[in-house]
Parts: sequence; structure tokens; C-alpha cells
Amino acid sequence: MAAAALLLLLLMSASILLLASGSKDCHADDKAALLAIKKAFSPSYLDEGWVSDQAPCCDWYGVECEHDIDFDRSWGRVTSLAFLRDTNLTGPVPGDAIASLTHLQGLTFFKVPGVSGPIPDSLAKLSGLTSLTISRTGVSGAIPSFIGSSFTKLQELDLSFNALTGAIPASLAKPPRLLVIDLSRNRLTGSIPPLLFSRYVPTADEAGVYLTLSHNNLSGTIPAQFAAVSFLGFDVSRNQLTGDASPVLSGRGRPVVTVNLSRNRLSFNMSGVEFPDKVNDVDLSHNAIYGGIPARVGSLTDLQQFNVSYNRLCGELPAGLSRFDVYNFQHNKCLCGAPLAACASRRH
Ligand SMILES: *[C@@H]1O[C@H](CO)[C@@H](O)[C@H](O)[C@H]1NC(C)=O
Ligand SMILES: *[C@@H]1O[C@H](CO)[C@@H](O)[C@H](O)[C@H]1NC(C)=O
Ligand SMILES: *[C@@H]1O[C@H](CO)[C@@H](O)[C@H](O)[C@H]1NC(C)=O
Ligand SMILES: *[C@@H]1O[C@H](CO)[C@@H](O)[C@H](O)[C@H]1NC(C)=O
Ligand SMILES: *[C@@H]1O[C@H](CO)[C@@H](O)[C@H](O)[C@H]1NC(C)=O
Repeated sequence: MAAAALLLLLLMSASILLLASGSKDCHADDKAALLAIKKAFSPSYLDEGWVSDQAPCCDWYGVECEHDIDFDRSWGRVTSLAFLRDTNLTGPVPGDAIASLTHLQGLTFFKVPGVSGPIPDSLAKLSGLTSLTISRTGVSGAIPSFIGSSFTKLQELDLSFNALTGAIPASLAKPPRLLVIDLSRNRLTGSIPPLLFSRYVPTADEAGVYLTLSHNNLSGTIPAQFAAVSFLGFDVSRNQLTGDASPVLSGRGRPVVTVNLSRNRLSFNMSGVEFPDKVNDVDLSHNAIYGGIPARVGSLTDLQQFNVSYNRLCGELPAGLSRFDVYNFQHNKCLCGAPLAACASRRH
């Protein structure tokens, strides 16, 4: 008891000292890494913003630390690093220097179009990463397989709006807590890895996962394994996908909220699809979907958008869909009923 109380007292005085001195400097190794990053990007805004005698490095723009308070030293370890909205930041990602930030959990490059070249292999050392964003940059080359293999704690991956090429690595199925993958607006080819999210077990407070692969050149089918994944959002619009979409569209009790399959080459009979009870937005426009719209769609109370235009659908629209405008149903084979013209068989 007494020892514990003493320890607590010591800890408290250590933190009071820390507050009093205002010291929020980072660990010497982390500071060296940050200075190396600054040098790699020089000249840039970092030259003026990341200066030791003006502010402790944990206060530098885009840097966040976690402070481990111990008896002799109170150095912060850099846990988060972000480069945001700057056109002056140019050159390749300084992989070696960033990889020396051994406690990094979050790494973000956002709207830095001058940052280019491949995602460097040296980043594979950042095994504690939970969030990786490289978005709206000039980064190109393949998505490295180590993102899935090395980042076992990864929860969010955003590599959207870059110039990435090649296939989606199958290793992205490995991190068990990965629940957001956004690879939209790149030049990715090949098929969708069938085991994505297969290790993810939804908990009460996180009811599902998000996959965004829109605006790429992906081909092949939507994996049958996706029938077992709890998607909240699924957007593969503007690709070259073929075949059946039932693995993401069908299943009454599924949590699916938003599905966008627009502008692919999907071709399947919609008559048998059991849309999820809670589905909100469905965009299936510009495909080759045939059959009819199941009557059940008319009674989906959460449905806010339902666009099946530019397909090969036929038959009478369920009554509940008359609240949507005609542009949701235009250019099909023989759909009829409100808001479209009345069905021929009903006329006398
Ligand atoms: C980019 O550089 C130009 C010229 O050096 C400067 O005027 C501008 O403020 C810089 N922009 C940012 C966002 O740092
Ligand atoms: C997809 O491929 C076609 C032809 O191979 C090409 O013209 C098009 O630019 C590609 N689209 C994207 C988004 O890379
Ligand atoms: C679906 O995706 C297309 C193309 O990416 C987009 O234009 C459209 O607005 C999206 N639909 C919905 C309902 O968000
Ligand atoms: C679609 O499936 C239904 C049965 O679910 C069947 O009656 C219908 O003929 C099929 N439509 C086409 C165009 O294959
Ligand atoms: C449905 O999609 C078509 C084709 O992309 C588009 O022209 C139309 O505006 C969309 N309808 C609505 C209501 O968004």
C-alpha cells in the first residue's frame, strides 16, 4: 500500500514537473527521424514549421505523440504523422526516415499531389500501424503486399485518388481488424481478392465493413465469399466487373446500407435477389441486369435511392417504387408501371 502510494506520488510529481516545464519534446530517435523527413522534403513548409528551438517536436504541425511518463525521462514517442493539403511538398515518400518512427500508429499523406513514386518497402517495418492514408497524391506503382502482411493491427486503409497500378494484393485479407478499405480512383486491374474481410468478426459497436473500389479497371466477378461479409458500404462502380452481384445484394438480415455497382458489366437475374431489410441506397445503373424487380423492393422502408436505369430489366414495377422518379428506371428492356407508363397487359 505505502509503496503504491509513494509510486503514485512520484508519478504525479513527475507529471506536474512535465506540465510545469511545458516540455513536450519527442524521443531523440523520433526527433532525428523527423529532421531526416524534413531534409528529404526540403525545400518545403517543414523548413519553417519543424524547428527545434521554436517548438518541441511533439507540437510540430502534423505530429502527434504519446507521453510515457517514467522516472528519469518524459520523452514522447511519435504515434501519428500527417502531411496535409500542400502542393509544395514534393518528391518520393521518405520511407527509411518514416520507418524509424517505431511507435507510429497513424500515417497520412492527403492532398499532397507532389509526393510521388512508389510506396516504399521500408514502410513494412511500421508493424504498429492502425491507419494508413495515402490519398490524392502522385504516388504510383503497385500496392505492396506488405500492407496486409506486416500491418497486423491495421483498421483503416485509404489509398484513393492516386496513380496505383496492378492488382489488389490478396494479403489485404490478413489484418483481422481491417474494416475500411478504399482503393478508389486508381488504375488497378485484375480481380477482387475473394477472402477480403473474411477474418473480420463484427462486434456490437462496429456492425460492418466498408469496401470502396470505384473508378478502377477491375475485372472478374464479385466473389461468392462476400455473401458472408457484413458490408455497410460497398462501392465498386466504374469497373469492368461481370457476373452475379447476389453475394453483396442478397440476404434479408444483412446490415448493408449502401451498394453502388453502377457502370460495370454485371449480368444476372434480379428476380430472385432478396434485398436486405435495411438497405438505403442502391445504384445498379449501367449494367446488363435482367429479370424483374422483386415485389419485396416496394416495401423496403429505408430505401432512399434505387437506380436500376440502363439495364435489361422487364416487368411491372412494385407499387412502392412509384415515389421514385422515372430516371431511376429508364433504358431497360420492358419495365412498366408507375412512375413509368402503365403495363400493356393492364390496358384493355
Ligand atoms: C508554396 O510555395 C509558395 C512559394 O514558395 C508560397 O508562396 C506558398 O505559400 C506555399 N504554399 C504552402 C501551402 O505552403
Ligand atoms: C481502363 O483500361 C482502358 C483500356 O485498357 C483505359 O483506356 C482506361 O483509361 C483504363 N481506366 C482507368 C481508370 O485506368
Ligand atoms: C454510384 O457511382 C457512380 C459512379 O462512381 C456515381 O456517379 C453515382 O453517383 C453513385 N451513386 C450513388 C447513389 O451514390
Ligand atoms: C429470372 O428468374 C425467374 C425465377 O426467379 C424466372 O421466372 C425468370 O424466367 C428469369 N428471367 C430470365 C430473363 O431469365
Ligand atoms: C440514375 O442513373 C442514371 C444513369 O447514371 C442517371 O442519369 C440518373 O440521373 C440517376 N437517377 C437518379 C434519380 O439519380
